[in-house]
Amino acid sequence: MRFNPEGRFAIPQVADFGKPVRGPDGVHVRPGEEYEWCVRHRGEGMQYSIRETPDLFNRDDIARLSARQHLIIDSGARRHGEALARSLTARGVESWNYFVPGGEGCKTIAELHRTCDAIQAAAKRRDLVVVVGGGAVADLARCVAAWLWKGMPLVIVPTTPTAYVDASIGVKGALNGENKKNSIGVYYAPLLVTLDLALIRGCPPDVVRAGIMEIVKMAVVEGGLLWKSLERVSADLLASSFNSSQSLEISRLAITAMLRHLQPNLREHSLRRPVDLGHLLVTPLELRGGLQHGTAVGIDLALMAEYATVLGCMTEDDRDRVHGAIRSVASPICHEMVDPEMVSEAMEATSRQRGGVLNLPVPEGIGNVRVHAQVNAAAMREAVLRLRVRGLDGGMAEIPAVADGHETRLSAGVPQSAGR
Ligand SMILES: NC(=O)c1ccc[n+]([C@@H]2O[C@H](COP(=O)([O-])OP(=O)(O)OC[C@H]3O[C@@H](n4cnc5c(N)ncnc54)[C@H](O)[C@@H]3O)[C@@H](O)[C@H]2O)c1
Repeated sequence: MRFNPEGRFAIPQVADFGKPVRGPDGVHVRPGEEYEWCVRHRGEGMQYSIRETPDLFNRDDIARLSARQHLIIDSGARRHGEALARSLTARGVESWNYFVPGGEGCKTIAELHRTCDAIQAAAKRRDLVVVVGGGAVADLARCVAAWLWKGMPLVIVPTTPTAYVDASIGVKGALNGENKKNSIGVYYAPLLVTLDLALIRGCPPDVVRAGIMEIVKMAVVEGGLLWKSLERVSADLLASSFNSSQSLEISRLAITAMLRHLQPNLREHSLRRPVDLGHLLVTPLELRGGLQHGTAVGIDLALMAEYATVLGCMTEDDRDRVHGAIRSVASPICHEMVDPEMVSEAMEATSRQRGGVLNLPVPEGIGNVRVHAQVNAAAMREAVLRLRVRGLDGGMAEIPAVADGHETRLSAGVPQSAGR
């Protein structure tokens, strides 16, 4: 990690869009009252800033980038999108709004075409695209910006915890294929990501829990201060909907840790990525089970901790701490769909996609995730069976399930799916 000795970064300008990257490679962090991270990778020709911008609509970080802006707005974050539009108008910016249904359903080629056509009807190729929304709409918008005239400058304004600490801060934008999550997409750096925790207020609790699971994943990868802080503040993240000084503190740790993993491997030339921890089962759990992305990550992470314990490379104590962190915000550690057959199918599919090498990130301890080339099938089967006993038969009765964005209480101790 490099710290900029001058402690200053210029926000990239639309006028500089596409110019060669300058300065040393790395993640440059400017701490202070408002943190800023600058990610540079000359080999990939990528450079972008992630900036804390509290009270976003009363400042001109976005307005000053371009006089013409096209806002892709998540329908679930409509009021934030409209507030940004009003703020831009007040600052003399001409802007257009495009509303997209929020959630996983928008990550389709059809929605990509629809949004591209709508924007192209009004846009000039050096106008700015701004997305206001959760991780799914951010994924779609990244594809839109990358496709339109083969690349329009993009600003991301995250409005969910997952988008804030994860989906917005890298360079991946993905859509879902017929039966495969994130199988179509782009690597495309934004100009700027603006972070305002106030925009998360109002997210449904299941969306907040899902975002906390992304931090739990990162904390298992990173260990140390991030893990300790998470154990201390996870309940506060949920109760405050990420609006507290502790939330700000932990989001900074999580973002810094995530960027440190992403920056050297922005285009995923290496598939040995510890931050892929918790992503083996996301396709079936999200696309068939209808779970939130982060909820699926939490269940997968719980399974990997169980698997590592069966292998003898994680202590039972550490496994219990991982499971405890997931359960501390009433997120499930298992789901009725998770059985040996489903896990075996997911392993085969992932392995096929990766040229026959599974590259499974396994938590061998908190802060010690190692990528295993192959899996021990018998140990995985045992882990699934143990997790089902731990997660379905015991201890789940009080865990709220997700149903169409509202919470419901489980009656029989088995987590239900949202059925999106
Ligand atoms: N590109 C990446 O690197 C990356 C990383 C992590 C996750 N993702 C993707 O992100 C998606 C999950 O993101 P998510 O957890 O933000 O869920 P989401 O984008 O599916 O949004 C969940 C719901 O919250 C609503 N919403 C958004 N902002 C809101 C607000 N402020 N108030 C009320 N409702 C609001 C949305 O309309 C939607 O209904 C998945 O598709 C996942 O694959 C991508």
